[in-house]
Amino acid sequence: MQTADLSHSAQASATAFAIPANVYAEKVVSVTHYTDRLFSFRITRPQSFRFRSGEFVMIGLPNAERPVFRAYSIASPAWDDELEFFSIKVPDGPLTSHLQKIVAGDTVLLRQKSTGTLVLDALTPAKRLYMISTGTGIAPFASLIRDPETYEKFDQIILTHTCRDVAELEYGAELYRQSVEDALIGELTNGRLTYYSSTTRGRFPRMGRITALIENGSLFADLGVEAFDPANDRVMICGSMAMLHDVKALVEKAGFREGSHSEPGDFVVERAFVG
Ligand code: A2P
Repeated sequence: MQTADLSHSAQASATAFAIPANVYAEKVVSVTHYTDRLFSFRITRPQSFRFRSGEFVMIGLPNAERPVFRAYSIASPAWDDELEFFSIKVPDGPLTSHLQKIVAGDTVLLRQKSTGTLVLDALTPAKRLYMISTGTGIAPFASLIRDPETYEKFDQIILTHTCRDVAELEYGAELYRQSVEDALIGELTNGRLTYYSSTTRGRFPRMGRITALIENGSLFADLGVEAFDPANDRVMICGSMAMLHDVKALVEKAGFREGSHSEPGDFVVERAFVG
């Protein structure tokens, strides 16, 4: 009830609001709250909006004359009719303190241009693709694991997700379930997509930061594969600044070279949205 009221007042100013140029105004289709820190939402997709799986876009709300925009990885695949996002809730965050109150039917603003480094074109071909994520950093991978092109380029996909607590893993666990059970995507993921989750605070069968699990060899032992090898593996990394720094150091130590659109390489990194 409180959520609906707050959302209504946040959206009330929308009527007097002029949509800026190069911005789409889209409708919220659904919202799912996982914890007091995490939620996901789906919005309508403008017909002319094109993006590559793994990219991010700027999102805002029509609640101010000059709306605050923040970068959000698109969590839905490029073929989906709707756009999905996975967001943190920051109590005083300029955008997320309002965004966390949206309900179906509300308006969300979307800048027209998407971009990002976590795209398949930034990596050279190899056998195995690791997608290493913490917190909301799983969002771009939620898009990529549902994109047929990922499976055209790689034989085996390993999605890792580490959060503080078990409830924070729910979005990724459900995503994985859907990806293997869905009639169409299941044909792609069948036997080729592995989901590897851990927590660092709440009790869970597998615990530890992904950096620790890489360094002590648990990740590779659990998966039954050899350690990181640039001859066979490619790595995409998405999480907090500290996490990016530490995982990047580990893959560089293993001899991986960072890739970009203009010069594809062995690994790519991108910061998960905060604020
Ligand atoms: P920890 O609980 O030890 O801080 P957050 O919600 O703060 O973004 O964190 C998400 C997950 O990322 C947590 O499990 C957290 O572990 C982990 N994490 C934080 N910093 C790093 C880092 N430098 N390297 C690897 N994992 C990290």
